[in-house]
Amino acid sequence: MIATVDINYKCWVYCIKFAAIHQHLFMKILFFSAKPYDIITFNQHNATYGFELEYLETHLGPHIVNAVDEGTYAVCVFVNDNLTGEVIDVLAAKGVKVIALRCAGFNNIDLAAAKKHGITVCRVPAYSPEAVAEHAVAMLLTLNRKTHKAYNRVREQNFSLNGLLGFNMHGKTVGVIATGRIGKAFCKIMLGFGCKVLAFDLYKDQELIAAGVDYISFEEVLQQADIISLHCPLTPESHHLINKETLGLMKHGATLINTSRGALIDTHAVIAALKTGRLAYLGIDVYEQEDRLFFKDLSGSIIEDDTIQRLMSFPNVLVTGHQAFFTEDALAQIAETTLNNIRQLSEGIAPDAAVVVKV
Ligand code: NAI
Repeated sequence: MIATVDINYKCWVYCIKFAAIHQHLFMKILFFSAKPYDIITFNQHNATYGFELEYLETHLGPHIVNAVDEGTYAVCVFVNDNLTGEVIDVLAAKGVKVIALRCAGFNNIDLAAAKKHGITVCRVPAYSPEAVAEHAVAMLLTLNRKTHKAYNRVREQNFSLNGLLGFNMHGKTVGVIATGRIGKAFCKIMLGFGCKVLAFDLYKDQELIAAGVDYISFEEVLQQADIISLHCPLTPESHHLINKETLGLMKHGATLINTSRGALIDTHAVIAALKTGRLAYLGIDVYEQEDRLFFKDLSGSIIEDDTIQRLMSFPNVLVTGHQAFFTEDALAQIAETTLNNIRQLSEGIAPDAAVVVKV
């Protein structure tokens, strides 16, 4: 008798757990720009959510939006998916309720169009800001100490130091444009290197001030810094923040690092500054026209973009393909937050304010 009650109880608990996990079984999320690492991580994390996941490798844009099935609950998109008003009109007609960004930035979404159709746009406001900050530091150190050149040189038994001369980070003045989550993590690392850290942001972070960061105007940062790192979002105000005029304010021989968004810098003006030596080093993880290039293997293709080819021809320029976020820790956090955002929205629970993107 006792054994029967125990078995019934266990069955009941199992049924509740099964129902909790599988209540989203017929709720479909369609992924765009899905890469093998996205599929592995999202499938792992979905074990506790039970959504129906479908993955497309292509980016979302007008060319493919008609492939979205009627009744798809959410589309899950990344930095280079192009959600114009036209695309969002079609998503709305298909019954899509949520646009889930598996990234922080949302400059690629027509928010007004989403609002018009009552589609909720959610994102992952923070996923290991340290991952991005640490990549900015990796770029800085690679450019400075030329470890990429040393690696190749030593493999050819060339132990000469000619051309590998760097500079001490300690004692240099570092200018940080925007001290949100990533900029703040970057400031802390730079303070640890023994740098003087100057910052510009619309808001001052008291913890950073207490740690020794000086907030001054944008122009003053450019004028005083040896190294400048960009960490602000791309908005109409920050578009081409680094241009011919603002490059003219920088020290001769400055270093510029951009891990934020490509269109923060006017690439042609930056190329001109590299030619004159105004910029001694440039490290970019993002590029204004990156949607045609990044996240793809184009090693067998002819690249028609002459601007990126010119950039890559400089010995003092380092380009990485939007990989600053790309750590195991960040991918796990992205998958967990994205699925949880969609779960909360599907159950009528309001997610954190920072998660839902409003116009
Ligand atoms: P956040 O929202 O925590 O901080 C943004 C900061 O920028 C805020 O302090 C804000 O006051 C400031 N800000 C906004 N407009 C500004 C302006 N015009 N001038 C100066 N400051 C301004 O954002 P978080 O997490 O630090 O991310 C920053 C950016 O990094 C994202 O918008 C995204 O574009 C980029 N990013 C790049 C990644 C990569 O893999 N390369 C990964 C994740 C984010």
